[in-house]
Amino acid sequence: MDNKIEEIRKVFLEFFNKKKHRIIKESSLIPYNDQSLLFTNAGMNQFKEYFLGYKKPPYSRIVTIQKCIRMGGKHNDFNNVGFTNRHHTFFEMLGNFSFGDYFKKKAIFYAWELLTNSKWFNLKKKKLFITVYYQDMETYNIWHNLIGISKKNLILIKDKNNQKYNSDNFWQMSETGPCGPSTEIFYDLGDHLQGNIKNNSGNRFIEIWNIVFIQFNRTLDGKLIPLLIKSVDTGMGLERITSIIEKVDSNYKIYFFKKIIQKIADKINIKNINHNSLKVIADHIRSTIYLIAEGIIPNNEKRGYVLRKIIRRAINHGRILGTKELFFYKLVKIYIKYINNNEKIFLHKKIEYITKIIKNEEKKFNQIINLGIKLLNKELKKSEDNYLTGKQIFYLYDTFGLSPDLIENICIEKNININKKEFLKYMEIQRQKSQKNTLFKHKINIYDKNDISKFNGYDNFITYSKIINIYINNIAKQKIDLGEQGEIILNTTSFYGESGGQKGDIGFLEKDKKNIFQVYDTKKKGNIIIHIGKMILGSFKKNDYLYSKVDLIHRNMISKNHSATHLLHIILRNKFGTYIQQKGSLITNKYLRFDFTLNHSLKENDITYIEKKINDYIFDNISIKTYTKKIEEIKNQKDIIALFPNKYSSLVRIVKIDGLSQELCVGTHVTNTSKIGLFIITKYLNIANGIKRIHAITHNIALKYMQKQNTNIKYIANFFNTNEEFLIKNIISNKKKNDLLKKNFQELKQYFISKEINILLNNKILLHKKNIIISNIYNCNPIFLNFLLKKILKKLNKVIIILSTKWEKKIFFIFKISQNINNNINALDIIKRNLDKNVCNINGCDNIVQGNIDINIDKYYFILSKIRTYILNKINKLS
Ligand code: SER
Repeated sequence: MDNKIEEIRKVFLEFFNKKKHRIIKESSLIPYNDQSLLFTNAGMNQFKEYFLGYKKPPYSRIVTIQKCIRMGGKHNDFNNVGFTNRHHTFFEMLGNFSFGDYFKKKAIFYAWELLTNSKWFNLKKKKLFITVYYQDMETYNIWHNLIGISKKNLILIKDKNNQKYNSDNFWQMSETGPCGPSTEIFYDLGDHLQGNIKNNSGNRFIEIWNIVFIQFNRTLDGKLIPLLIKSVDTGMGLERITSIIEKVDSNYKIYFFKKIIQKIADKINIKNINHNSLKVIADHIRSTIYLIAEGIIPNNEKRGYVLRKIIRRAINHGRILGTKELFFYKLVKIYIKYINNNEKIFLHKKIEYITKIIKNEEKKFNQIINLGIKLLNKELKKSEDNYLTGKQIFYLYDTFGLSPDLIENICIEKNININKKEFLKYMEIQRQKSQKNTLFKHKINIYDKNDISKFNGYDNFITYSKIINIYINNIAKQKIDLGEQGEIILNTTSFYGESGGQKGDIGFLEKDKKNIFQVYDTKKKGNIIIHIGKMILGSFKKNDYLYSKVDLIHRNMISKNHSATHLLHIILRNKFGTYIQQKGSLITNKYLRFDFTLNHSLKENDITYIEKKINDYIFDNISIKTYTKKIEEIKNQKDIIALFPNKYSSLVRIVKIDGLSQELCVGTHVTNTSKIGLFIITKYLNIANGIKRIHAITHNIALKYMQKQNTNIKYIANFFNTNEEFLIKNIISNKKKNDLLKKNFQELKQYFISKEINILLNNKILLHKKNIIISNIYNCNPIFLNFLLKKILKKLNKVIIILSTKWEKKIFFIFKISQNINNNINALDIIKRNLDKNVCNINGCDNIVQGNIDINIDKYYFILSKIRTYILNKINKLS
């Protein structure tokens, strides 16, 4: 059998290129700046803003091949993968797009020509069936009247559960966003197979191409807002069309997958290459590799959790195939061997990193799964009626990650029945719960969609601007008065709105000296820049002209920190490899924070190295420039760091630190590294599995920090009676001395206590079955009184203890009366009653009484004997 997959890729691009479509690079698997999606799930994702009319597309016709993940969210095929011929967690989508250019007729004609013309894919026309949304008769008529599809092969698809637009032929990207009716092309594999197009079931009909006529924007409240331009979004699964052209009945039988499956089977020594578990593993290694390559790490948060689930499912299936050893990580190299050259280049540098991450996760999960299997075996032994309930299965699945397939397999071997139906019920409850949680929260958009603010503040810190909107408490207003807090939108502004990790500017909006709005913060949302603050003088009206004046000190510090962040990023990449990926960044006027992936910890000398290197670059006086370019012109330039490398946009801004780094960035920067002044790392943290965080400061703040550290060191040196040079030696020797003293003290304490205890016990009085110890301890540190007391309590019960000492011109009493003695005796009361108020002033708390007195020794003994007599009398009386 021939391997057709590469040829199909090429032919698809060539066909649409001939039809005047621009070939565009695919986008990242992680959607850029889009909270509504966990992963890129279709070719159209990167063009969302063009469909919605928020941005003008650079070309009205585009063609792409897009990697997609369908896990989590609206399009989720996870549990089907491996058990059907068609589903994948990861697949590639061939797509052609029109933005306000051609619509239904041309889209259908193009698809038909590509599929059926002998110059192209040359599929038999009679094998093709078409579905159409039941309210879209225009499309129906194009297929029937213009293309000539018979009514038998043309099927109208209704809404499900009578819910409007809830149909397989009404496509939407996510809970919100672009959507519209679609028409789908199916291929008939022959009547020897079962299948029903209406509900897309069975193996007979394969859906190969979905052509969507994007016409609406679905908003969070469920409304469909008609779009200004009508567009086309098509998607054809590469693996599916390949299976048809290679004439096999399953995606997993195409040449590409067959090879990989065979290699996996060899690796884990399996003879039956048709086993579904091999398909699961072959699919999951692909998604795992690409997700890790894009910077995702298995953990318990959103995307990381999905990746973890994929890896765990693959390992479960390894178990089903009988492999108990770690195997999954070994498949990275096998997979990469069979992909095309472009992909190889993309993945090559990351092979080691990806392998390591998988291996770590696999090791961890192997331990958990072993525990789970032990527990399962225990449950099976216990089960008298050879039966496992759904609840038991769910517990094993939920706690130990044992997949139901694996459990079922083990049970079949042992002849045990399981209640799968009940298990599925539990799964459904969990699914509903997690769906509620994963639906990302959106703030209702209060801003006018037509507003646009131009940012004029890279070099101009004062801009003459016009107010285009005012919002107070989320409501649009004509005016903002003195003392009111609100948000002001300007047509053009010097203020940078928080984005790309860089905090927004602060400053003032001034009409004249009598009307001033103080800006506390600035945010960017879509096309607008929002100035948040308070009217501190006079008032403003919509359409007023004013000067937007940025606080320069604040801005300059932010720019220094931003340029320092770029230096940090490039140094990390140069030192540890280009697979290092930025995972988050915060740039404020006070400090910068940078999160990045790294599979091992940074050592102290790494931190010193990074700090030194950055300061060297600062001292080297290197110029920093920015320029804009069309993405097409730079997309193959490997030395440009692009955090979202594949996001398609016509013009991008590049920040270039001469000879060092080039990075796609919209933030503000200093013009020369020397302006950063100084760079100090203040914190280094391990924030998650494989993700590190560095906090750093620059310029004046770094200087102040260093000065403070210096002052502290001087102070400490002074304290230790030494100078900075010998401080560390001194501290170490002091610590050693201190440890020795502590040791001596402990020994002394033990000696003292055991000696005193004997004396005290020998002198105890036994009266009416009560042990009475009332004694003075000569010159004893009061903390020892407590030790003594505790020791006595351990040895005797039914005790009345009063111990006293004179220590540094104070007398101390400690006392305890066991609970099992009549509590009419109140020790504190007794002590107070017997001390001469004129002689001493007693404070009592808990069971320690302390008095500031200086009495002669006779008087002191007299008091003690008075207390003793009093207590003895009292006990005599009570008994
Ligand atoms: N967006 C549609 C789909 O994913 C067509 O590309 O099926």
